Amino acid sequence: MESLLVVLSLGVLLQLAGCSPPPDPVMCTHGTSNCTITNTYGSFTDRTICRAAKVTYPRTEQELVAAVAAGKVIYRQDDRVDVSTPGNGLYDLPLFRTTPTRELIDARAAEERLQENGTDTARCEAAQQQAAASERLNIFTNDGVSFTGYPVVGYQHRIQASGPCLNSPEDGLLTSCAWDPRIRGSFFDNSGFSVPLSKAPAFIADMQRLRNLNPDLFCSSVDARIGVLLRYVKASSAYLGKPEDSIGVDIIYYRSHTEDMPRAHADVVDEIEQMALRKYGGIPHWGKSRNFAFDGAIAKYPKVHEFLKVKDRYDPEGLFSNEWTDKVLGINGSPNIIKKRCAIEGLCVCSNNSHCAPEQGYFCRPGKVYKEARVCSFFKDY
Ligand SMILES: *[C@@H]1O[C@H](CO)[C@@H](O)[C@H](O)[C@H]1NC(C)=O
Ligand SMILES: *[C@@H]1O[C@H](CO)[C@@H](O)[C@H](O)[C@H]1NC(C)=O
Ligand SMILES: *[C@@H]1O[C@H](CO)[C@@H](O)[C@H](O)[C@H]1NC(C)=O
Repeated sequence: MESLLVVLSLGVLLQLAGCSPPPDPVMCTHGTSNCTITNTYGSFTDRTICRAAKVTYPRTEQELVAAVAAGKVIYRQDDRVDVSTPGNGLYDLPLFRTTPTRELIDARAAEERLQENGTDTARCEAAQQQAAASERLNIFTNDGVSFTGYPVVGYQHRIQASGPCLNSPEDGLLTSCAWDPRIRGSFFDNSGFSVPLSKAPAFIADMQRLRNLNPDLFCSSVDARIGVLLRYVKASSAYLGKPEDSIGVDIIYYRSHTEDMPRAHADVVDEIEQMALRKYGGIPHWGKSRNFAFDGAIAKYPKVHEFLKVKDRYDPEGLFSNEWTDKVLGINGSPNIIKKRCAIEGLCVCSNNSHCAPEQGYFCRPGKVYKEARVCSFFKDY
């Protein structure tokens, strides 16, 4: 693919004594043109080398954001600098920051009020305000406090970690991380699936059609701070890898602490997911707990038989198998669980009203754009 690659360069101080750094992963034959990018560590054997017509090295956050907005590929390169180079950089991803526990609990309570008693407009406005606020936050800091510009120089363990939550202080829960089960903080569900790249334009057009029917309702259904997250995934020769170049889709949304509690406009996400999996040949992300998404998914992997042979050879006793993996791999039964309200938690696709929450006004209905979908819709939305 002829593409422009953006190389984000960070100065990373490496604490390895007596090691020579690997060769520069970006090599161009003419200045910044005709480049080969090598994964020098070779951790992913199916994607060690890629080529780019041109690369660019943004020096400021603005240049980086502009390149991303223009749809360029990003490759992060960490440079080794001399140990005497000063700097105490920190990767300070807002989502993974330790936060006063009181703020986290208040934020969740506000979210519960909005979900249970708020309007679509209020939910969307709140999300937009939060998105704007988080865009103003810096992801890197040069000294653990503020961002003064690139390059960021610091220790490997501070720059490569997913965020400061890794080292949160034990302070009797005065501060905590948003997902800490000891507090009533944020609680989400996350659907993830991929759609072949060749079908992505039609899939996105369908999603836009669904949004245009009622934009407020759409944005109130997905976590509008993040929206519908898309990323590119290359095809892989691995037996259970993506058979085709694909886009990975991630949607995060509110989850109630009460089991089987219907969520406002959950039918929107359910319709998108069924559309992706059934109309556009999508496959679920292996790490998600949406039972219905795995129903029949294994048949979309052309090399599954190869995989099962290897699995039998290396694990004849099934030591690494369980009921769930047997279902997902199509060995023994379906991953669907059919019972009352099963569609509320993604255990099944509804086929009758009892799979939804008829007592609370949620009935099993066809999708609005993808009519073959079966989703739990609130009677007033239909
Ligand atoms: C581009 O790079 C490749 C691989 O490094 C090389 O074989 C080729 O000759 C280069 N093309 C031009 C026009 O320089
Ligand atoms: C929503 O409103 C109802 C009725 O006024 C109330 O009982 C409930 O506590 C409210 N929910 C939240 C989360 O505030
Ligand atoms: C609806 O599904 C439930 C649970 O699977 C089942 O017990 C019930 O008989 C079904 N009702 C109809 C009308 O099909």
